[in-house]
Amino acid sequence: AERNLILAFESSCDETSVAVIENGSKILANIVATQINSHKRFGGVVPEVASRHHIEAITLCVADALEQAQVSYEDLDAVAVTYGPGLVGALLVGVAAAKAVAFAHNLPLIPVNHMAGHIYAARFVSPLKFPALALLVSGGHTELVYLAGPTDFKIIGETRDDAAGEAYDKVGRVLGLSYPSGKEIDELAHQGHDSFHFPRAMENEDNFDFSFSGLKSAFINTVHHADQVGESLDKADLAASFQASAVDVLAHKTVKALRKFDVKQLILAGGVAANKGLRARLDQELTAFPEVELIKAPLKLCGDNAAMIGAAGYEAYQAGIRADLDLNAEPSLEF
Ligand code: KG4
Ligand code: ZN
Repeated sequence: AERNLILAFESSCDETSVAVIENGSKILANIVATQINSHKRFGGVVPEVASRHHIEAITLCVADALEQAQVSYEDLDAVAVTYGPGLVGALLVGVAAAKAVAFAHNLPLIPVNHMAGHIYAARFVSPLKFPALALLVSGGHTELVYLAGPTDFKIIGETRDDAAGEAYDKVGRVLGLSYPSGKEIDELAHQGHDSFHFPRAMENEDNFDFSFSGLKSAFINTVHHADQVGESLDKADLAASFQASAVDVLAHKTVKALRKFDVKQLILAGGVAANKGLRARLDQELTAFPEVELIKAPLKLCGDNAAMIGAAGYEAYQAGIRADLDLNAEPSLEF
């Protein structure tokens, strides 16, 4: 069989990444240059700093990816790139680089939605089967998505305020943890107990939406109150209580969606999909849905990377989706 090779770009936030993907499912290279140390001192991603780092890193990432994959430009079939959602200046660097390669080597340019990319990280575990549902949890998004076909996605529920990862990072800051703090809270949570029992927002509402700002506020108020009265609270119990509430809410709405929609698979993806508590909870909940296959994005591909963009790009390529060289970054892109 003919082998299809896609060069994929991702630069929507604070990771510069370039990958070479074979037939949409095999990673020949996935170079990820993280800028996280440049943003830590600010407690979050500074857009202007992100853009500058992307510009410095991107050509080196392309060279590394091609070398690691042992392919040259002549071997490529297409170029895929994240064009939104994300930080506009950051996105523009990947879009410009992808266009340059597509133009210089006369290759088709495939536009990829970053969130569709997160979903396709699951492709490296197993082929996707439709219809499917995806729980997409990241630093910027928290949504339940109905997947009618390989490129036909519809949001059925989403957060009304903070994204799950954003809430993790904000309470981590209050605990004095460094940014991003999701992974550390996850680890702390396994050493503590849900002794605070923070609120579970919107669980009884008849929709698939989420809210994390009430949980975040309850957490922050508890810590500030303890500070004022000179009481010291157990960090592991705080983390465990926060995580219990966040995971409960995510699992509850996901199960509700599984009851309503007849699907073949449930896909868990996005940065927060690396959460051990959430992964274990969904394993447990899915025993009640034996006809639904749970596919969790591989731990190494939960965070931002170009491999997932290459996998999503391959499906778009097969579907005949192409962009012209006037492709622009779309910071608020939706499905
Ligand atoms: O998908 P991602 O890499 O970037 C965005 O597109 O937003 O997600 C990053 C988010 C951060 O908020 C980070 O704290 C969170 O994912 N995260 C976690 C874990 N690992 C990363 N949150 C909870 N538990 C984890 N183990
Ligand atoms: Zn992301």
